[in-house]
Amino acid sequence: CGIVGYVGSPDVKAGGHNALDVILEGLRRLEYRGYDSAGVAVIAHGTVDYRKKAGKLTNLLAELEADPLPKSQIGIGHTRWATHGGPSDVNAHPHVVDGGKLAMIHNGIIENFNEIKRELAAEGETFLSETDTEVAAVLLARTYNAQPADSKDLTVAMQDTSRRLEGAFTLLAVHADHPDRVVASRRNSPLVIGLGEGENFLGSDVSGFIDYTKKAVEMGQDQIVTITADDYQIVDFNGNPAEGKPFDIEWDAAAAEKDGYPSFMEKEIHDQPSAVEQTLLGRLDESGRLTLDEIKIDEAVLRSIDKIVVIACGTASYAGQVARYAIEHWCRIPTEVELAHEFRYRDPIVNEKTLVVAVSQSGETMDTLMAVRHAQEQGAKVVAICNTNGSTIPREADAVLYTHAGPEIAVASTKAFLAQITAAYLLGLYLAQLRGNMFKDEVATMLTELEAMPAKIQRVLDEIEGDVKDLGQAMKDASSVLFLGRHVGFPVAMEGALKLKEIAYIHAEGFAAGELKHGPIALIDEGQPVFVIVPSPNGRDSLHAKVVSNIQEIRARGAVTIVIAEEGDEAVKDFANHIFYVPEAPTLLQPLLATVPLQIFAAELSSAKGYDVDQPRNLAKSVTVE
Ligand code: G6P
Repeated sequence: CGIVGYVGSPDVKAGGHNALDVILEGLRRLEYRGYDSAGVAVIAHGTVDYRKKAGKLTNLLAELEADPLPKSQIGIGHTRWATHGGPSDVNAHPHVVDGGKLAMIHNGIIENFNEIKRELAAEGETFLSETDTEVAAVLLARTYNAQPADSKDLTVAMQDTSRRLEGAFTLLAVHADHPDRVVASRRNSPLVIGLGEGENFLGSDVSGFIDYTKKAVEMGQDQIVTITADDYQIVDFNGNPAEGKPFDIEWDAAAAEKDGYPSFMEKEIHDQPSAVEQTLLGRLDESGRLTLDEIKIDEAVLRSIDKIVVIACGTASYAGQVARYAIEHWCRIPTEVELAHEFRYRDPIVNEKTLVVAVSQSGETMDTLMAVRHAQEQGAKVVAICNTNGSTIPREADAVLYTHAGPEIAVASTKAFLAQITAAYLLGLYLAQLRGNMFKDEVATMLTELEAMPAKIQRVLDEIEGDVKDLGQAMKDASSVLFLGRHVGFPVAMEGALKLKEIAYIHAEGFAAGELKHGPIALIDEGQPVFVIVPSPNGRDSLHAKVVSNIQEIRARGAVTIVIAEEGDEAVKDFANHIFYVPEAPTLLQPLLATVPLQIFAAELSSAKGYDVDQPRNLAKSVTVE
């Protein structure tokens, strides 16, 4: 879910804004975190007033148009990805309790809410919704009301309430008695503070207030922050003072706009040359050595590691799979890739000699965060590859390699994926350099190849985008699409299939081309579209010839073959119904090029079907529950 909080100065000229404007702008930017419902609450003239509505933010905007909220200096807003209770008006946040005096919004899952709900019900409380949030709100109101009349303190009530709650949560509350503050609590769920002049902000991430300030503060776990117009105070759940970590926001608000493209996804596909370039920037020192100053792990430790485990979910896990091919080849360190939620719960063998690489665009994916903690408990060092400054995974990891892809808004990941792969290459080369697996000039050659990639990605966009789009339009009625690849082409195939599932709701699967004959070939029927990622004909180990045979096998059985091949590869032409050429590149780097047409295809097909490319059904970009 997306969360925003705001407190400004009563004197708007002193720098404050109308709370509703700030909150709606923040929600618009955070909507990618969930769009099942949205709601806002403000305090004006000493009372809490709110609106909430099932469906996307536009429904709430229509409601506000019909029934406006008063101007105010304080408020909270929420955009929801439903967990407990379906997406309805009543289950939408905020939950307003205690005769309309207290409003609360929440991200996460409160695991013991049923137990607390029973207790509260036994004491005569009633509930309107099915949500765990309302239970927390009622508990907070009761805790507050139980305080002595002359020392009522919302922050202290939030401490007492938070200690009772189990699970993961960010809670934001406003109370009619305290129209000058928003109180927020956080455990295992994202929250950052934004600092303005005479106004302060809260957000699930910095995009919640990026239009208003570039100054932010990270919070730790199990902490509570109280913001007023001029100040913020952080304490732990027992009321002990705590320190936040200030940082400057590098993203600019314009980077989170569509820039004339019909969707964020299309814009982000076009951002890819610069996303890769930015991720590579500044990594070479004067002597031509690759430097990764961010990797603040003792070099002796890095030299002694005997296993690497890459953990991630969704698209990031496919970046991890590409990383495995590169890291094993360059560093000769056994490397595994595993979905974070599977890794965490199977009692994996991890110790001080294991390096865990956690890949996450958002830095908030709960499955990945839990796997990181588990690995650290076993003594492993964790390097995060992450796109979002101030998020939880980089904060908890031993080191972080930031991808500099800029804000990614579309739920289906594109530029973050290419940037993750790029960062993983850098990590692999760095380890190979450090451990002496590669000579300096070998590393330098590979870096030169990497530096040539942004221009090559741009060529893919310039040269084949139109044709790929035509194919996307032509195939809009396909009911199933298959993707085949070998070696690094295999994760590319899986990513191509995931994109189609996510945004075009088409059954799609990615296979290792060699596995085809062991089962999936039975799916091939007359007219079945199959994308094939063909490796470079100049690569090693006759990989190319093997894939060409695979194409022939499926063509013979009626498949419509859509081939992604390297420029100059004439051998595949005869077996391709459609062919898209991408520039030449070393085999290990090919995913940076071959993925691009698959992204374009999925986006075009989704829009041809009339779907919302950026906000596909049932999904959210940042999944902060396990
Ligand atoms: C969600 C998103 C996916 C994303 C995955 C991992 O499931 O819908 O698009 O790949 O989370 O997200 P992360 O932020 O950890 O990279």
